[in-house]
Amino acid sequence: MKDKIKKISSLEDLQVLYAETFGKNGTMTQKLKNMANLSNEERAVINTENAELRQLFKEKQSELEMAVLNAKLADEKIDVTLDCEPKNRGTVHPLTQSLKEIASVLESFGYTLWTGPEIEDDWHNFTALNTPEYHPARDMQDTFFLENGNVMRTQTSAIQIRAMEKQGAPIKMFAVGSTYRKELDATHSAMFHQIEGLYIDKGITIADLLGTLRTILSRFFEKEIELRVRPSYFPFTEPSVEIDMKWGDKWLEMLGAGMVHPNVLRNCNIDPEKYQGFAFGFGWDRLAMVKYGLNDLRAFYDGDIRWLKNSGF
Ligand code: DAH
Repeated sequence: MKDKIKKISSLEDLQVLYAETFGKNGTMTQKLKNMANLSNEERAVINTENAELRQLFKEKQSELEMAVLNAKLADEKIDVTLDCEPKNRGTVHPLTQSLKEIASVLESFGYTLWTGPEIEDDWHNFTALNTPEYHPARDMQDTFFLENGNVMRTQTSAIQIRAMEKQGAPIKMFAVGSTYRKELDATHSAMFHQIEGLYIDKGITIADLLGTLRTILSRFFEKEIELRVRPSYFPFTEPSVEIDMKWGDKWLEMLGAGMVHPNVLRNCNIDPEKYQGFAFGFGWDRLAMVKYGLNDLRAFYDGDIRWLKNSGF
């Protein structure tokens, strides 16, 4: 009997043998039933045999169950070392990446994000920015005009007007968006992007402007940035400056800025006797190009995935 149990190789066979042994009419069941007429020694032999057999069945059962489990595991095993089709992973575009970074710097200084339309009216794009019709400064920006007199926004400065009209002063805002001009070569694209910042409150001075810009640029480029300030002209700021940044051993022209012109504040119903402030405008594309060492502006908009990959993104 013991040998029989040992030789069994499936759970089903084991069940059959178990029933034959311990079932209602099983061999061991019979023996146990007939013990009444037996001597003590004979009973002891049967009891021992009973206990041994039960133990053997139990052991055999767990042995067979384990074998079934192992077979199943072997069957379902996946070979993770096998080669598979390479998957193309998506990447963040350098412009999006640099926007996230500059926005988080500006937001940490309390600037809130505003948006405006890309098709702008004359008032917001020019006139309210102290650039009335026939003002020679309109020539600084080669404009796409629409038939109804609206324009493709030439500067995100239009959004500072919208923000001041809506919120009044004090205000601390920034805006990011596409801008359009009739220019196209290796360093200019007919569509490009700007970042605009504006801070109007009581007692704001040009020292605040310069300190703010140096800190923002240092945070964005993750190193101490040295600035060079040159006098310039924008109709909507007085005084106006252009700011260069030291990069390696070169000075790069980075942005235009200045103290917001009283006429601009008046155009937005803000009293220039009470409130002053500064504004600044960056080329957003320029920020991304410098930070990530990219040199062809046009490649930003071609949507060529090979370029994106090779540019380290
Ligand atoms: N709008 C200007 C441009 O497109 C850039 C600029 C200069 C924006 C000075 C400003 C500013 O807000 O204060 O060339």
